[in-house]
Amino acid sequence: MTAPNIDTIVSLAKRRGFVFPSSEVYGGLGSAWDYGPLGVELCNNVKQSWWRWLVYERDDIEGVDSSIILNRTVWKYSGHEGTFHDPLVDCRECKNRMRADKLEGYFPPEGKEVAFDANARLRAGLVKCSECGSTNLTDERFFNQMLRTTLGAASAEDDPTALAYLRPETAQGIFINFLNIQTTMRRKIPFGIAQVGKSFRNEITPGNFILRTREFEQMEMEYFVRPDAEHFKLVDEWVEQYMEWFVSLGIDRNNLHLHEVPEKELAHYSKRTVDIMYRYFPERDEEERQWEELMGIAYRTDFDLRSHSSKPADEEGKRINPDSTEDLSYFDEADKQRFYPHVIEPAAGVNRTVLALLMDAYSERTNDKGETRVILKLSPQVAPIKAAVLPLAKNKPEIVGMAKAIKRSLQPVLRAVYDDTGGIGKLYARQDEIGTPFCITVDHQSLEDEAVTVRDRDTWEQERIKVVDLAENLQKRLKP
Ligand code: GAP
Repeated sequence: MTAPNIDTIVSLAKRRGFVFPSSEVYGGLGSAWDYGPLGVELCNNVKQSWWRWLVYERDDIEGVDSSIILNRTVWKYSGHEGTFHDPLVDCRECKNRMRADKLEGYFPPEGKEVAFDANARLRAGLVKCSECGSTNLTDERFFNQMLRTTLGAASAEDDPTALAYLRPETAQGIFINFLNIQTTMRRKIPFGIAQVGKSFRNEITPGNFILRTREFEQMEMEYFVRPDAEHFKLVDEWVEQYMEWFVSLGIDRNNLHLHEVPEKELAHYSKRTVDIMYRYFPERDEEERQWEELMGIAYRTDFDLRSHSSKPADEEGKRINPDSTEDLSYFDEADKQRFYPHVIEPAAGVNRTVLALLMDAYSERTNDKGETRVILKLSPQVAPIKAAVLPLAKNKPEIVGMAKAIKRSLQPVLRAVYDDTGGIGKLYARQDEIGTPFCITVDHQSLEDEAVTVRDRDTWEQERIKVVDLAENLQKRLKP
């Protein structure tokens, strides 16, 4: 079972301290969200799992943490200043503002060889408003998605020399550090560089909870290969590895599907992109409307390294990039060749992964009394809390003391909490709802036999375990 819709997760997330609407005391800020005590743990566990998988468990990937604000010139040569914009239209009937390229009828039907003229299609009434279905839409105009800021205390708001951007992708911080990392770590191609961090986009239509926001977090990896490598095959290989990683985190393969991005929709740097889609909208009748992008795997060619390099020249011998001071090419010792490495880029979102995990983990179960309980069947490696220690009687100092001591002894090896704020049934229900794999109950008998009851979240089965064996027992059962 998965969550019936995103709204179910929005309410669970707020009720149980995963995600809160941001700035709520001032009426909120559209599509901005704050991660509470459990949400921040879940995000950290996803990021750590990703980092361990790529940077520690493989031998060919290094990590980096670059600035969010880079020299503005980076965004000129990356192509983002010139092309990172969305077409915007307004509906004259219902006043809705939308991304035109997401609307029904914007692109000519597949297979028809007609010249593409968006405004001609808009004026001919071929494109429909997503809100009211009207075809009475304005012409499109382009809106750059990069969020702007100004640097320096003395700068005037409109001083072009003070203009800077909050990065719209973490990838550029990797490209401009390619040579630093390759030379300091003495790396030979093929190798990759991974980065996780915040990115910002002034989205026209943010929404659907944490699926599309203006501030979000990415886990990106640029994998550098030879110009004559089998690039399309490498894209397929990375797609399969990421599918397996998502499944290892607990996502049902049936809720994942692949989308080959059509040529006309490719980003300016991409020759091929495959998106891994997740079923974020299971409530929608039409199957094809149930999916949204979880991540993308792109073949970025040598576009970025080449365009940030000082050397490449045009047909007349003029430098294409007169601002760069470095040539980011690579010298292959084996065959004495110099070239710009080509790049395969798996780019995933932390927030979209977290939403997929929450939706996939959601289940309901009815107990003996006929009460329906929510159980969040998160995989133990991402669960925010691994074990909750619960005293059966909170008015018995010996039981409370023993429970607190057990919690303290577990804390160095796994995330454990102590809770005595309700009856045992309520405490179990609360832990089930936040995805805690194990509840440990300390009772009167524990004082005599130095043992506790360990209850499994998914089966509700209970087992008696000696306190001395508890940490090792739990660690074994928590292993992925
Ligand atoms: N460097 C390539 C790149 O940024 P992208 O497909 O634009 O590619 C990669 O972004 C991933 O980042 C997406 O698949 C998604 O998971 C996440 N992402 C992008 N925009 C987002 C947004 N506005 N809100 C939340 N996540 C977003």
